[in-house]
Amino acid sequence: MNQRSCHATDNWPEVAAASCAALTPEIVAFIEQCRQLPRSESHLIEVLHRVQGHFGYLGGPQLDAVAQLLQVPAAKVSGVASFYHFFRLEPVGRFRICVCLGTACYVKGAEAVVARFEEELGIRFGETTKDGQFTLEASRCVGTCGLAPVVMVGEEVHGAVTPDQVPSILERYLKQSRTESPSA
Ligand code: FES
Repeated sequence: MNQRSCHATDNWPEVAAASCAALTPEIVAFIEQCRQLPRSESHLIEVLHRVQGHFGYLGGPQLDAVAQLLQVPAAKVSGVASFYHFFRLEPVGRFRICVCLGTACYVKGAEAVVARFEEELGIRFGETTKDGQFTLEASRCVGTCGLAPVVMVGEEVHGAVTPDQVPSILERYLKQSRTESPSA
C-alpha cells in the first residue's frame, strides 16, 4: 500500500497495515485501482460487493478497512452497507433458507411456512441461528411459481412446502451438516 500525501495521520503505516490485514490482497489491489480514478468514492458499492463476496458479510473490521483505504468517512461506509438490503452485516449460516414471498407463494401460504421456520429455528428474517447452521431470509419470486410456496435452501428448490414439512427439511440439512463435519 502506497503512502499518499492525503494521509495526514502519523500512524498511517500502522493503520494501512491493519486495514490491509482485514481484507485480501486482491481487494486491497482493487481499492488501490479505484483510488487512481476520479471520484474514487463512487466505487464504494463495488468494493463492498467484493468484500461480501469473499467474507460472506461485511464485518466491522472490513468496513473500517474500506473506509481507511478508500479514504471515505466511516459513517458513509456503514451507512451504505446498512442501507442496501443485499449487504449483510452479520455472518451467514451454513445453509441459507430463502422463503419466497412473491405473490403466488404468498397466496399459497408462504406466511405460515415462514412462521414455522421462525418457530423451529428461533430466529426471524435476516437472522442466523446461534449454531451458525441456518440463516432465514425472504426472497422475491424465484421463477418457479408453479411450485408455490417455494423455499430455497442454498441452490436447492423445495416446492409446495407446507408448515408441517419444515422440521423434516431442517433435519435433512442438519444431517448433511453432521455427515460433512462428524465432529460438529
Ligand atoms: S412467487 Fe414464489 S416462485 Fe414465483
